[in-house]
Amino acid sequence: MSVAEPVDLLVADLHPALGDPALTSMNFLNEVSERYPAAVSLAAGRPYEEFFDLAAVHRHLDTFHRHLVDDLGHRPEQARRLLLQYGRTKGIVHHLIARNLRVDEGITVDPEDVVVTVGCQEAMFLVLRALRAGPADVLLAVAPTYVGLTGAARLVDLPVWPVAGGSAGADLADLAAQVHRARAAGLRPRACYLMPDFANPSGVSIDTAHRQRLLDLAAREDLLLLEDNPYGLFHSDDGPRPPTLKALDTGRRVVYLGSFAKTVLPGARVGYVVADQRVGGPGGRVGPLADQLAMIKSMVTVNTSPIAQAVIGGRLLEHGCSLVAANTRERSAYTRNLRHLVAGLARRFPALPDQLDQADQPDRPAVRWTVPAGGFFVVVTVPFPVDDALLDRSGRDYGVLWTPMAHFYDDTAPVHALRLSVSAVTPEQIDVGLDRLAALITDEVTRRAG
Ligand SMILES: Cc1ncc(COP(=O)(O)O)c(C=O)c1O
Repeated sequence: MSVAEPVDLLVADLHPALGDPALTSMNFLNEVSERYPAAVSLAAGRPYEEFFDLAAVHRHLDTFHRHLVDDLGHRPEQARRLLLQYGRTKGIVHHLIARNLRVDEGITVDPEDVVVTVGCQEAMFLVLRALRAGPADVLLAVAPTYVGLTGAARLVDLPVWPVAGGSAGADLADLAAQVHRARAAGLRPRACYLMPDFANPSGVSIDTAHRQRLLDLAAREDLLLLEDNPYGLFHSDDGPRPPTLKALDTGRRVVYLGSFAKTVLPGARVGYVVADQRVGGPGGRVGPLADQLAMIKSMVTVNTSPIAQAVIGGRLLEHGCSLVAANTRERSAYTRNLRHLVAGLARRFPALPDQLDQADQPDRPAVRWTVPAGGFFVVVTVPFPVDDALLDRSGRDYGVLWTPMAHFYDDTAPVHALRLSVSAVTPEQIDVGLDRLAALITDEVTRRAG
């Protein structure tokens, strides 16, 4: 936006969310990347592009088309219409998503409880739009949280109350306290949003016993949980993955948000929501929350592109509906990168992280980092506040980009941490990026000490 142009409208006269940092955050981060195209980006949480394959997109489309004809018995003209015409609001790959959830996650869902969406982002928007009935409604979210969630909540005028994450991934005492505090103030906590697996940005995962306690608390407090799981498949070890909250959910407490952006193709823009909660309507009619979400979707995006869904469907079909099987290459690349990054941090900041309370010294800055068991993200804590101006300087003077953790907190308090992502880089780029980051950190500490 330039300053000198004549104006026809004022941002102040538009929806209040439009001036909000939660909405400008993603654009700002993209702009910084565009400003410094030569910088190594440890900022983007995008999947690794070397695995993208245009020919596979066509093949997936054909595979899904054949499935419609051979497996589902559609006539060729019907199949063509399904792929090219306006279509079912809840989507056309819902049965394959249900199969995928059974195969990979042990989750049994009725395909009718699935709504296929334009990315997980639309799924979040639909759910928040549906849950926000009036001004007393609030959403709880484990902090730090995904900025896309905060932005979507802003757009539907739903305040987000942070819940402490802590080392367990969700502080249950704080969650209960926030629920009670909201209710005591006459407010209605509609749900708590969280990412139990390799959260964005913290990288933290919740263990199985804690997941069970979370579900027990949700039942006790009559609270919905919004489980967002874009990274769960990318675990670094070869042991079993903890079950998703949805897999453990026996009381329809969990609305499950899914994304194919990291596991198939971000450009397809396909995600989904499993919303099996029973909603009572006029005349005693009962149906799944999915139907209400579809009603909203019909007024937002009408239906998710069937062509894009077919690409996802084809990929699923080619791997027996297992994204675990479809992502062996990706998982090993992300695992390699995550280990490389953590080892690289340890090499560049050798005194830590085992001497956590060491005082900051210019030659040995107190730098700490998380060691996630998977996913894309590592959080580095540094002895100075990390803001957008520092990011800009990092891109310009040091040639490395990362994400200030302040973007993931819904307040203006300074945050002494940044997020590194391993997903879109090679080990060589990680080395270069870490050298540059280490130089920035050392210079910054020295500058402040002087
Ligand atoms: C936690 C989380 N949820 C949702 C999304 C958005 O997913 P999609 O691209 O499917 O809209 C992302 C993307 O980075 C994410 O990190």
